[in-house]
Amino acid sequence: VKRKQRWAVFISGRGSNLQALLDLSGEVETVLVVSSRKQAPGLWRARRAGVPTTVLPKTIDWDDLDAQLRRHRVSAIVLAGFMKIVPESFIERWKGLIFNLHPSLLPLYPGMNSIECSYRDRAAMGVSFHHVVPEVDAGEILLQKQVFKRSEALELGLTLEEAEFFIHVTEHRVMREAIGYRAWI
Ligand code: GRF
Repeated sequence: VKRKQRWAVFISGRGSNLQALLDLSGEVETVLVVSSRKQAPGLWRARRAGVPTTVLPKTIDWDDLDAQLRRHRVSAIVLAGFMKIVPESFIERWKGLIFNLHPSLLPLYPGMNSIECSYRDRAAMGVSFHHVVPEVDAGEILLQKQVFKRSEALELGLTLEEAEFFIHVTEHRVMREAIGYRAWI
């Protein structure tokens, strides 16, 4: 019998990827939304969906957060635009159960501003869903989708904003697919 997955989603901002998960139904349930910012618009999405939220203080108490996740019987974590560094000890505790969505074709363009940098370099652009390990954006890739081939965004005459739009739409799809896939494991 498949056990229902109880996901915690970590955000810092808009939360459009969180929304993609909130819109999923079935074996997957978002049971807690954790935000590093009090004003993150994503918090409204969670509240509207009736999902409990927690806002992290400036200095994060990772043990306390871990306890909260256990209280909510969270089975896995997904970082969706979470802008804080997660300490190694916390990653160790959730080893194999913590994932990240990243807007580039990793290992290309890890870290910040990946969309902008790949666009400016006329590189191939896309989205990766991967295991979180202590090294930034370096864990095993579980799902990857290319959105533009090398130079393609430019050849199509897309502005950075337009290219970004396509990347985000693909992120939402990758998120749904990846989490749906996890739900079967
Ligand atoms: C996404 O591009 C995500 O991959 C990145 O930050 C952005 C968050 O967008 N790391 P949203 O908050 O899910 O709308």
